[in-house]
Amino acid sequence: METPHAEAPAQRRLPSGPITAAIGLAVLIVGLVFLFNTNGFTSHWYALFKWVHVTGAVIWVGGGLTLTILAARAERSADAGEMATIARQAAFVGERVFAPVGLIVFLMGIAMVINLHWGWGTTWIVIGLVGYVITFLTGLLVLGPQAKRISRLLETKGAEAAETQAAIQRILLLARVDMGVLLLVVADMILKPFT
Ligand code: HEM
Repeated sequence: METPHAEAPAQRRLPSGPITAAIGLAVLIVGLVFLFNTNGFTSHWYALFKWVHVTGAVIWVGGGLTLTILAARAERSADAGEMATIARQAAFVGERVFAPVGLIVFLMGIAMVINLHWGWGTTWIVIGLVGYVITFLTGLLVLGPQAKRISRLLETKGAEAAETQAAIQRILLLARVDMGVLLLVVADMILKPFT
C-alpha cells in the first residue's frame, strides 16, 4: 500500500547541487566581464592570476578563521562531542580544501612574480614565500599527521577520553598559530613593507 507521507521529504528537497553550480557559473561569468573591462592592470593575465590568488586566499584564510572561532566556542562550552565534531570538520577541510587551495594561491603568486618581474629578492615577496613554506610544512608535518592520530583516537578511545581531548586542544592551538602566520602574510601582501 502506498504511504503518501513517506515521499514528502524527498519531494520538498531543493536541488541544491544545480543551484550551487548556477551561482558558481554566474560568479565566473560576471567576474570574467570585470576582468576584461578593468584598466587597473598591466595585462589581463596578471589580473586573472591576482583574482584567483586573492579569491583563494579569502577561501583559505576566511575558512581557517571561521574554524578557529567555532573551535574557541566549543572549547568554552567544554563539550567533548562538539570539540570532536570541530576536529573532524577541520581535518576534512584542511585536507580537501585548504591544502589544494593553498597550492593554487602559491602557484598564482609565483605566476604574478614572473609576469610582472617583481623580483625574487623583494622583501615582501621573500616574507610571503617564507610564510607559505612555514604553513605548508606545518600542515604536512604536524597538522596532517595529528589530525589522523585524532581520528584514530576518536575511533579507539572515544571523544570523552582525556587523551583525545588533549590531542584536539593541541591541534586547535597549533592551527591558531598557523592562522597567525597566514594573517601576517596577508598583511605583508597588502602593505608590502620595507619596499
Ligand atoms: C601564504 C599565502 C598567501 C596569502 C594568504 C596571500 C594573500 C594575498 C593577498 C590578500 C593579496 C592582495 C594584496 C593587494 O592587492 O593589496 C596578494 C597579492 C599578491 N601576492 Fe600573495 N598571498 C600568499 C602568498 C604569496 C606568495 C608565496 C607569493 C609569491 C611567490 C605571492 C605573491 C603575490 C603578488 C605578486 C601579489 C600582487 C601584488 C599586487 O599586485 O599589488 N603571494 N596576496
